Amino acid sequence: MRTTDIHSYQPRQGHGLPHDPFNAIVGPRPIGWISTCNAQGAANLAPYSFFNAFNYVPPIVGFASIGLKDTVRNVQATGEFVWNLATRDLAEAMNTTCAAVPPEVDEFVLAGLTPRASTLVRPPRVAESRVTFECRCTQVQQLHGADGTAVDTWLVLGEVVAVHIDKALLRDGIYDTANAGHILRAGGPADYFTVGPEQLFKMHRPR
Ligand SMILES: Cc1cc2nc3c(=O)[nH]c(=O)nc-3n(C[C@H](O)[C@H](O)[C@H](O)COP(=O)(O)O)c2cc1C
Repeated sequence: MRTTDIHSYQPRQGHGLPHDPFNAIVGPRPIGWISTCNAQGAANLAPYSFFNAFNYVPPIVGFASIGLKDTVRNVQATGEFVWNLATRDLAEAMNTTCAAVPPEVDEFVLAGLTPRASTLVRPPRVAESRVTFECRCTQVQQLHGADGTAVDTWLVLGEVVAVHIDKALLRDGIYDTANAGHILRAGGPADYFTVGPEQLFKMHRPR
């Protein structure tokens, strides 16, 4: 690749493209479909694609909220959240739960989803979701830029304290990612991907 073939830019000065490519490049991303409840116990459910896993033992997952949204407020109030796997059959329901509605609106009802009681934490799980993680918050960290200026973005990290998996997704005890129907968020206003067996390839680490 020649230098003249490379589009370079400094994000603080603008990308010079019709759409910011950042989200399309760092993607497709798993979706943190997060259920919480407020101090009074009212349920909330919302998707966060700034989501990932950060540790094996103990398992720790995290998501980032652009602005202090209800989900973060609820985690700060209760110290708990649940992650629900978003799959192709639940894509439209997941999307419905991102509506900007007042805190008192229960997104489970809005999206026609069934709350199922968790075992260790108060927020309910999405009964239709095939994998759920009950989490206890470990950190809520406000982000800052390279110049130290605070950014109105909040990274929530939590330890997974209970895991629930649809047994149909355990083939000989091995979790079958390829056939679970995971959906992933890409860039633009509407791009998503699914993964299936045709995308699977195997490669072992060098010894
Ligand atoms: C697939 C998807 C991914 C999203 N990812 C994020 C995200 O990473 N961070 C964020 O702040 N909002 C994200 N949103 C928007 C929130 O879901 C939306 O603002 C929602 O209303 C927040 O709900 P809450 O206020 O109940 O927490 C996403 C929306 C969708 C549909």
